[in-house]
Order: sequence, then structure tokens, then C-alpha cells
Amino acid sequence: MALLNHPALAPSMSRLGTETAFAVLARARELEGQGRDIVHLEIGEPDFATPPNICDAAKRAIDEGHTHYGPSAGLPELRTAIAETAGGQRGITIDADEIVVTPGAKPIMYFAITALCGPGDEVLFPDPGFPIYESVIDFVGATPVPVSLRADTGFRLDLDELRDKISPRTKLLIINSPQNPTGGMLSPEDINTIGDLLADHHAYVLSDEIYGRVTYGEVKQASIAAHPSMRQRTIILDGFSKTYAMTGWRLGFGIMPRHLATALAQLQTNVTSCTASFVQIAGIEALRGPQGPCQAMVKEFKSRRDLLVDGLNRIPGITCQRPAGAFYVFPQIEGFGTDTDELAARLLQEAGVAVLAGSAFGKVGSDSLRLSYANSQENLHEAIGRIETWMVSAHS
Ligand SMILES: Cc1ncc(COP(=O)(O)O)c(C=O)c1O
Repeated sequence: MALLNHPALAPSMSRLGTETAFAVLARARELEGQGRDIVHLEIGEPDFATPPNICDAAKRAIDEGHTHYGPSAGLPELRTAIAETAGGQRGITIDADEIVVTPGAKPIMYFAITALCGPGDEVLFPDPGFPIYESVIDFVGATPVPVSLRADTGFRLDLDELRDKISPRTKLLIINSPQNPTGGMLSPEDINTIGDLLADHHAYVLSDEIYGRVTYGEVKQASIAAHPSMRQRTIILDGFSKTYAMTGWRLGFGIMPRHLATALAQLQTNVTSCTASFVQIAGIEALRGPQGPCQAMVKEFKSRRDLLVDGLNRIPGITCQRPAGAFYVFPQIEGFGTDTDELAARLLQEAGVAVLAGSAFGKVGSDSLRLSYANSQENLHEAIGRIETWMVSAHS
């Protein structure tokens, strides 16, 4: 990070944050290079292979010559497929020209914040939350305003705090359900309350729904775009990375009112021109093809969640909620007399388990660790055993 203060760089670069997951992964790989055995619970990507029908569609698309530039906003056939499926899942009508397809869903964050926010604007965002939100808010010179999520309310956004923090300068509210790093979900009632709070305001909502299909049935997934007052002020962020185990393909999309779709497509023209054409063709197969592999993946994630939550709760000093979605747990750790940055570093170095410190996601979660259960049940058992042994010996 120090390099971002190099005198040659523009001042805004010193405000750019990062995702520590990549740094921890690099450190874990370094240890593996030295012959150490590491259980990886730091990475936020499904460990499953991309379903073969999707891979075959991409291979066919290359053979058929879909290897050239396409429209900046995405191929019309994919935008139509997204409009139909995403609209059906959320109970709203979506037109293809309200969709912008991007290389991964992350650019929607960057593009939406860049298109809407600048100095003088306040942006409300979840704390703990995905670190790139605050990074980009800072980068564009807007003011980040964190809103807390706490374990005792199932990691739902604190709606009283949200009400207090909405101001005439609020330009954007970012919500994320199911949530990274906690796995928490906003209930349909929460979503409705948020929509009511903003109904007479001018603020937009960036609704990060990337984990929207990784849910376990305890809380109903709802989108704020279905709130009657919010459809024209909501940008839905979604994509293929998590639902179809396609992180490396880089395929995501945003759904937004037309005036924003035009702006985001033009940002895309300036940055990447377009998303890879054969990857988009594979995306059509993902949406229109059999959905069995995604359902099987979610079923397996649920078993792993239960295994990990039960195992962690058996370890003295660890309290772990059972989240309703995504593939993360965010247990609170007590009694180790150290901050979770040091705890995460020692778990990696001494116990061979790679996890992330809660502080990587904001101030509120700094007493927690984030563990991803995108790993086999066997490895999760191993990780629980290693953490328990390490914690018992660290205590004695
Ligand atoms: C909350 C959240 N939003 C968006 C993304 C970005 O997804 P993609 O890999 O499609 O860019 C991630 C990835 O980890 C995420 O956790």
C-alpha cells in the first residue's frame, strides 16, 4: 500500500483501498511454497467447477467466432436473458436497455459510485462491509458514512442508525444482502422500511445482490428495486461469479434506470470497451440452461455452514451466528488479548488456517474473523480442529 503514496501518483491514489483477501492468499501461498500445509478459508469464491454446459457454450462460441468487440452495454441476447431471469426472480419488469454487462460485477460498484458521487456527497455503506465500497467512495472524493451491522441483530443493517444518518447530502445508500462478510440478510420488512425511509428523498440505492441466490431458506430474499418508490433510483449489482462458480470468467451486470445505464455504458466504453463476447454467450447458457448445479452447490454450502458454525461454537471464546446466506461466517472472538489482525496472522502462521481479520471490513467488526466455507467439509473439519488446538494452547 505504501507505494500508493509515491510522489509521482495523483493525490486521489492515496485514498484507494484494497481487499486484504488477496494479500492473505499471497502470504498463504508463500507458506505453501515453503512446504507448509494451509487450509484456505480466506477466499470468497466457490470451490466448485463451473458447470460443464457453460464451459461447452464458451468453447462453441469461440469456435463460432464470437471473439470480437461487442456493444459496450453488453450483447442484446444476454441483456434480454438477464432482463427475463433477473426480473422473474425479483418480481419486477426489467427492460434489456436497463442492463449493463461488465467484466465481473465489481465494475458496477466503481461505475455507479463514479457516475453518481463526488465531493460534498455523502454515501452510506454497511460496516462491516465489502471493503471496495469505502475505497471507491473515498477515491471519488465523496464522504463515506458507515452504518453498523451487529451480530445481536443477525447482522441486519441498524435501521435506527440509518434513519439518523440520512441527510440532505446523502447521494447514495449501499446495501448488500446476503452480505459479505457476515452472511447476514435483510428481511423483506427491512427492505421495505429502507424504501419507505428514502421514498421522499432524492438518494439512490446501490443494492449489491451478488449472493442473492446463495440463501438457505431461513430469510426470504427481497430486492429494494421492487419497492414502488425505489425502482427508478436503484442500481442492482449482480453477476455470475458466485451463482455459477464463474469468478475467473469475469461476468457481471447492473440493472438500473435508463439514464444511468447510458452513463455506465459510456464509462465502460472509456475503460474496457466491452465484456468478452464468448464469455457473454456462455452467460446466456448459464441463465437459460439447467439450474441443477447451482442448487446442488447451495445445498452443499448449507451443510458446510452448519458444520462450521457448530464446530466454531464448541470452541471457548468463539461465538458464531448462523447466517442465512452467502458462504461466510463472522464469529466474534473474545479473551485472546490481541486484536483480530494479529489473531488472523497467527492463525495463518502458527495453525496453518488462512482467515481474514474483521477489521478488513470496517471498524464495527474488528472483534471478529471472517471465514469462508468455500472449502470441502473435510478441510473445514481440519480447520476447526487446528483453530481449537491453537486457541487452547494460546490460552494456557
Ligand atoms: C459483496 C460483493 N459484491 C461484489 C463482488 C464482486 O463480484 P465479481 O467477482 O463478480 O466482480 C464480491 C466479490 O467477492 C462481493 O463479495
